[in-house]
Amino acid sequence: MRTLGIETSCDETAVAMLDGDGRLEFALLSSQIEKHAPFGGVVPEVASREHLKALPVLVDRALECGGGPPELVAVTAGPGLVGALLVGVRFAAAFAWGRGIDLVAVDHLDGHQVSPFLDLDGGPARKPPMPVLGLVASGGHSAWYLTGQKGPTRLCRTRDDAAGETFDKVGKVLGLPYPGGPGVDRLARMGHGADTIFRLPRLKDESHDFSFSGLKSAAIREVRARGLEGRGEEKVGQGGCDLMASFEGAIVRQLLKPLPQFVEEHRPALITASGGVAANTLLRQELEAMGTTLGVEVLLPPLGLTTDNAAMIARAGQLAWSRGRRDDPRRMDVNAREVWHPPGMRRQMERQNAGERASVVPPEEC
Ligand code: KG4
Ligand code: ZN
Repeated sequence: MRTLGIETSCDETAVAMLDGDGRLEFALLSSQIEKHAPFGGVVPEVASREHLKALPVLVDRALECGGGPPELVAVTAGPGLVGALLVGVRFAAAFAWGRGIDLVAVDHLDGHQVSPFLDLDGGPARKPPMPVLGLVASGGHSAWYLTGQKGPTRLCRTRDDAAGETFDKVGKVLGLPYPGGPGVDRLARMGHGADTIFRLPRLKDESHDFSFSGLKSAAIREVRARGLEGRGEEKVGQGGCDLMASFEGAIVRQLLKPLPQFVEEHRPALITASGGVAANTLLRQELEAMGTTLGVEVLLPPLGLTTDNAAMIARAGQLAWSRGRRDDPRRMDVNAREVWHPPGMRRQMERQNAGERASVVPPEEC
């Protein structure tokens, strides 16, 4: 099934075409970063308008340059900005309906989770072994999932800010361009971090959940106290680089802290990381090193597929289609919340929840 993937959940309009084995035939992305940069964050209304302008152009290019006409359309239907999602979903639904081809709604986080299995050098997508222990860390989400035969189970998540959001907010105070994660990464590479500056949060319960808001406030306080506010990447000096190395280290330590216990409890065949923060140099190094220590293979996405892209959506759509998923273009809806399931699956989960606790999310969050 040659698949057209469409991703418009936030500030990037992305379109990709994969052949039936998940080989990337075409991918194009139109970034809106410059439009949002003056505001220091994504403006939802601007995002929707930009998607509306870019999407038809990108899809035309995909049809010209891909390996042939698509037989399946996969589109991100949540979570994300409602207006931005609606542009992609309505476009995809009309496209599929008009051509009489199948349509599959994809959860953006499922998309990130398949990104490590894609090949940017023209190879087929790798088949995931079971079970996979996967970290998703992006601008909007931070969670570990265990994916087995029955689908993903979330093992822990952030209680407040996401890891990427934490990088971005501290980067903004430092005067780095939006999004701040890549700039913090570059500064941290030139610095020497100290584990003692930022301590890991202690949650009152037994969970492995993350909390980044205290770290964010502490890092912003330090930036101000050291006179680094608004200095920008060029002028933060060695002190700024050292501080960012400590700050980055604290985020990475927290993200990886539960890993040894998860490995011991769930004996995964593979460990993955995905989402924009999976581009972070320290996170990649530490994860590889931990995989070696724990004796589990680590698979990371190519750098070009860590941030939002449509190839991952197309692949997640293909996998869902091969498990029997089809969505009705006349009824498809979007959902802005983190915990989101395509309409048919939501009903199926409600039935499941009546008998047993859902394997994916607590029922109150559906
Ligand atoms: O996955 P993504 O493109 O969008 C969401 O789904 O949120 O992730 C974007 C996030 C931003 O917060 C950005 O600062 C962060 O990924 N990011 C990084 C790096 N590259 C991107 N964070 C840390 N280090 C990086 N090298
Ligand atoms: Zn994302």
